[in-house]
Amino acid sequence: MAAQSKISEIIEDGDDAVELAKRHLVQPWPYAGSVGAEARALIGGGDGIYVTDASGKRLIDGPAGMWCINVGHRREELARVMYDQAMALSYNTPWYTMNAPSAELARRIADAAPGDLSHTFFTTGGSSAVETALRFMQFYNNVRGRPEKKLILSRGGAYHGSTYLSASLNGRPRDRDWMDGADELVVKLSSPDPFRRPKDMSIAAFADFLVDQFRDTVARVGADRIGAFVGEPVQASGGVVVPPDGYLKRIREICRENDILFVSDEVVTGFGRLGHVFASGDVFGIDPDMITFAKGVTSGYFPLGGVIISERLLEELRRSNHPDALFGHGLTYTSHPIGCAVALKNLDLLEGGVLQHAREIAPYFQARLKTLEELPLVGEVRGVGLMACVECVADRESKNPLQLDKDVGKRIDAHCHELGLLVRPLINMCVMSPPLIISREQVDDMVAILREGISRTMDDLRKEGVWRG
Ligand SMILES: Cc1ncc(COP(=O)(O)O)c(C=O)c1O
Repeated sequence: MAAQSKISEIIEDGDDAVELAKRHLVQPWPYAGSVGAEARALIGGGDGIYVTDASGKRLIDGPAGMWCINVGHRREELARVMYDQAMALSYNTPWYTMNAPSAELARRIADAAPGDLSHTFFTTGGSSAVETALRFMQFYNNVRGRPEKKLILSRGGAYHGSTYLSASLNGRPRDRDWMDGADELVVKLSSPDPFRRPKDMSIAAFADFLVDQFRDTVARVGADRIGAFVGEPVQASGGVVVPPDGYLKRIREICRENDILFVSDEVVTGFGRLGHVFASGDVFGIDPDMITFAKGVTSGYFPLGGVIISERLLEELRRSNHPDALFGHGLTYTSHPIGCAVALKNLDLLEGGVLQHAREIAPYFQARLKTLEELPLVGEVRGVGLMACVECVADRESKNPLQLDKDVGKRIDAHCHELGLLVRPLINMCVMSPPLIISREQVDDMVAILREGISRTMDDLRKEGVWRG
């Protein structure tokens, strides 16, 4: 309750945070009908894998905030390093000065990154990381005298951010219905979602189909017009889509053959979610030209992200015929000293045991969640590392998600909230990605609550005649 009283300290007497939000706050992803007038669950405190809501109820933080509280809430070491860094140097302009934490963090990231990824450009989060990678690709091709080579390949089910260009890559249903985008710059491919592969197609044949589609698209559009492929190793917000074995390696090879930059978006998978600092090399055996990261780099304690760029690309720029070409891109908070300092301490925690714990507990986490497939509403439970998705369907034959109720995920979340678990609802799916420090007993609690929440939702749907499973 300590955190609760802190909240009341920062709000004027008699004011209620939810009411204030309804009057003054525009929250992310609102609907037009309730924009600027929404009451969302008020979270007052956090400790370990738990958060506390406004009524003082303790909840397991099932999505770890937004896939970010990797080492858990209320880590004294992280709080202290932020305080110490703020007292030593709270900010310096990255335009013409630098600070030590960012240089040290860039070295540590280079040590952990695959292939020849050697340099990091720090940003304020994931969208700005993806945006930076894409603007860098444009700059790189301009300097190399290939101004036509700018198109970006992206996939259905993708989520890469909320800035204009990064959002133009998004491929989840509904995200773009009412939003504009730089569509002329993007070519979309199929989602590599094995659960939604065509009927009667094996997973191996599905992988071949995806690779053929990629190769055919490059041939049709022309490699000389395509600058980059951007993909999440595991599509996160698209519903934890784990691609077929070998798929990423094969796509990587096609990109190499066609001089298309392979950008691995590890905003979710980086910094421990799959038990390694980066999943591209250690889990999927690929060496991208760039990796974007954010979220887990500070375990969500400070908004920081970045792009790691290969030595090869930087060397080509240095040796180009245009040494005076300016990469006109930078953010006020690029290389923020507090963000980089907290990221260094966070990396110490990850490499000092949290990654190993994540690797050890992941099979148990996945196996326990898999038992939810016993419930008839559940079409599939899938995942890797400490990220998983429970996908609900009207029936397993049609796999129809919408006939059911487009808010089935929210219904499950509401029941689970009552029972002590926060769920990330995604239409017909529930995403689970708890802090990496979760214990076996806590996994058991999480799965038991989720099972009960789904069972209650099944009862509701039956009672309302929406579903007959
Ligand atoms: C894979 C991926 N890329 C980029 C982003 C955007 O990151 P941010 O919200 O920090 O801008 C997200 C956010 O969820 C993400 O999941």
